Amino acid sequence: MDNRPIGFFDSGIGGLTSIPYIMRRLPDERIIFFGDTARTPYGSKSPDTIRQFTMQIGEFMVKNNVKMMVIACNTISATCIGELREKYPGIPIISAISPTARVVAENCNPGNNIGILATKVTIKSGAYVDKIQDKNKNLKNLFSAACPAFVPLIEEGIIDNEIMDLTIKYYLDDFMKDYEIDTLVLGCTHYPLISANLKRIYPGVNIINSSKEAAVAVNIELEKNNLLADSRSGDNVFYASDLSENFMNMIQLILGKEQEELNIRFKNLDL
Ligand code: DGL
Repeated sequence: MDNRPIGFFDSGIGGLTSIPYIMRRLPDERIIFFGDTARTPYGSKSPDTIRQFTMQIGEFMVKNNVKMMVIACNTISATCIGELREKYPGIPIISAISPTARVVAENCNPGNNIGILATKVTIKSGAYVDKIQDKNKNLKNLFSAACPAFVPLIEEGIIDNEIMDLTIKYYLDDFMKDYEIDTLVLGCTHYPLISANLKRIYPGVNIINSSKEAAVAVNIELEKNNLLADSRSGDNVFYASDLSENFMNMIQLILGKEQEELNIRFKNLDL
């Protein structure tokens, strides 16, 4: 049993999409969230910059005495989870990619045509293809598409909207048709916010969601390591490096609560 908080982080608001699963399944857990809204998106930045920002966030999480870190960001997971684990060997660190890759490996068969959607950095790293094939060598029909405009649009709240639908079609119409995709892996924690658009535009497609799978992995790891909380030790706190109007609107939309009920704070992590 451990009543210290769990530290979730992302380049922006995307990682918030993991939080409702935790709130519903594990209401005793206290959450510290950091979204680097001032520096988002990470997905087209260089690995060195992503690494530098991530180490700052890691330090902030450790100062907050977290019992576990959750990299609710595929881009960071693909770039520098190894360095973070090396620096903090005593803290379990959950990736967004491995749990999602495991679900793909366990639930798909060689007949499936699997489309992996993610940021440029995540796709370029090859992390999804490598991890899926590590776990299931028979899955050969793995196709990747980088969709760099999704994150800035989502951060702007441009979601239930014709501009988003056109952007989805721009990136994916040919991809879906040419490879006869039947399964989409949302390999970016921002993308669950457009899963309704994807289901509407490509009806019948099976969606695997990295935000959900990261949250499920948190539950499993807490249980396995005997780290579950047995009572709430304080409020959840949501930090962002820029408290813009967009961020305030999006956090309310994702968590379904009024801003007054959410403990939202500004945190600048610049060195
Ligand atoms: N939500 C992120 C991910 O899962 C990062 C997106 C970005 O900042 O480009 O990759």
